[in-house]
Amino acid sequence: MENYFERAKVKFENLKNKQDVTIVGIESSCDETSVSVVKNGNIMLSNIISSQIDIHKRFGGVVPEVASRNHVMAIENVFNEAIRVAGISLSDIDAIAVTYGAGLIGALLVGVNFAKALAYSLDVPLIAVSHIEGHISANYITYPSLKPPFVCLLVSGGHTALLEVSDYMEHKLLGSTIDDSVGEAFDKVARVLGLEYPGGPNVDKFAKLGKGDIEFIKHDILKGTLNFSFSGVKTAVINYVHNLEQKGESVNVPNICASFQNFVVKELTEKALEACRQTRLNKLVVAGGVSANSFLKQKLSEVCKENNIELYMPELRLCTDNAAMIASAGYFYILKGKGLSSLGLTGSATVAL
Ligand code: KG4
Ligand code: ZN
Repeated sequence: MENYFERAKVKFENLKNKQDVTIVGIESSCDETSVSVVKNGNIMLSNIISSQIDIHKRFGGVVPEVASRNHVMAIENVFNEAIRVAGISLSDIDAIAVTYGAGLIGALLVGVNFAKALAYSLDVPLIAVSHIEGHISANYITYPSLKPPFVCLLVSGGHTALLEVSDYMEHKLLGSTIDDSVGEAFDKVARVLGLEYPGGPNVDKFAKLGKGDIEFIKHDILKGTLNFSFSGVKTAVINYVHNLEQKGESVNVPNICASFQNFVVKELTEKALEACRQTRLNKLVVAGGVSANSFLKQKLSEVCKENNIELYMPELRLCTDNAAMIASAGYFYILKGKGLSSLGLTGSATVAL
């Protein structure tokens, strides 16, 4: 065992100068079991995702223990499929990259333990990847020529923040939510409207049919800062809906979705723009599940064009959780000499922003 890590250190160092580096990525932080093979950080050879959405739908959200159990059942097949589709053999694998956090601890442990067993049996380095760095790295796959520095608008189910990314795997926090993440607010609003889990895509869909003329709350308690708050608008929507229901009045789902989404997207675009101004960076990269939102995409495209900012958003299949982004991050960790882990690696519910 001790010798494993000594050998891994040497191999990890050597990978920096290897021409082609093939990395297996593993992701199991929430309700997607995913394994992917990525070459040189941006050539995606396979990206297999086994989603548990249908399993959790009936509970209205992810049930952690159910998620862990389903990861255990899925992971070996997902791995085999990822290798088969990539057309590689096990001896082609240079390193294993795995999400160690943030996420559901039991779910994370399934991926982490599978990764440790693989790394040990193949005698290759194990790289511990932050899920957040993973979401950012999804963009390196979609845009192979993209390089830091840039501003990142991180909009996931777990996090909402603005980051100044100065180099691969290096960033400074410019601002973040002081309460709910934006994905959480989407999901809670969907739930009170009776829309199925996961709520974000459904709110997106219904919003297209609504006018968006309800002002739930006045802007903006955090004006002048790069921080966000979404619990106020979320609670206002919930109260609005309960009020209508108590009075026996009808609930206009599309209009509520559109109005909520208008508020949220305005917040995100204004502050992302302000972050670009303050840092004098004219590249904006969006990361995390909410980057799949069609209205956010539309508005950001408009304001970035008006302000001569280059906009990067991951292709749709790489917006939400997947292992390709983890394998990609693994490559850039190698280049920066970071992330090498011993077999003592464990999961972490949170990671520092
Ligand atoms: O990044 P992600 O897959 O998981 C975390 O790392 O947290 O993000 C999941 C979040 C969920 O809250 C989901 O509702 C939201 O992303 N989401 C969307 C859309 N697609 C996914 N929110 C708004 N519009 C969408 N189209
Ligand atoms: Zn995620």
